[in-house]
Amino acid sequence: MNNMLNVALPKGRLGEKVYAMFEKAGFPCPSILENSRKLIFENQETCVRYFWVKPSDVAIYVERGAADVGVAGKDILLEYEPDVYELLDLDIGKCRMAVAAMADFRDDPQRTLRVATKFSNIAAKYYLSKGRDIDIIHLNGSIEIAPILGLSDVIVDIVETGTTLKENNLAVKETIVPISARLIANKSSYNFKSDKIDMLVREITAQMEASK
Ligand code: PRP
Repeated sequence: MNNMLNVALPKGRLGEKVYAMFEKAGFPCPSILENSRKLIFENQETCVRYFWVKPSDVAIYVERGAADVGVAGKDILLEYEPDVYELLDLDIGKCRMAVAAMADFRDDPQRTLRVATKFSNIAAKYYLSKGRDIDIIHLNGSIEIAPILGLSDVIVDIVETGTTLKENNLAVKETIVPISARLIANKSSYNFKSDKIDMLVREITAQMEASK
């Protein structure tokens, strides 16, 4: 267990891209490419073990040391502020955190703004920095419905292509922060497995430089 590099991969398309980067960086594990419903894969030869986890859970595995490293969106890192090292911006999974509303919405600063979001911490900090009074309505998904049904005035959510907003007659009003996938490491793993983790960082950095 101790000489293995334990990696939490975000399940889905982003995770597949991330695995390809790790594979090239010297941590191949061919069994992961087999179509199966298994969630844990290891390669004894290269001493690596991968787990597929829900993208929003990666930081929890890494913070608590169940994984040494992982890849998480900056959105999750800003929202949950896990106690981990952020080692590298992987420049993939790019999108932005934005405030959106019905295309014709006009804010009335006299009124408390009702904000529906999955990212309550990010939203609270953003509006605090602007000195704007808000009422947060925490939802777990399909956030775009909230302003349509009058549950909220605006939403704070991830916008990638903008298609979801457009198809629901919503528009971006403000961009809060750009988002991308980050390589993160458990703090104590980073000390004890620094050789492997440094090599991973070096190799991935080289790949990114080469593809520029
Ligand atoms: C996100 C976000 C939007 C959508 C934006 O949802 O909440 O619904 O992507 O993408 P677009 O700008 O390309 O249309 P995600 O698919 O991550 O899943 P979720 O419903 O669990 O939030």
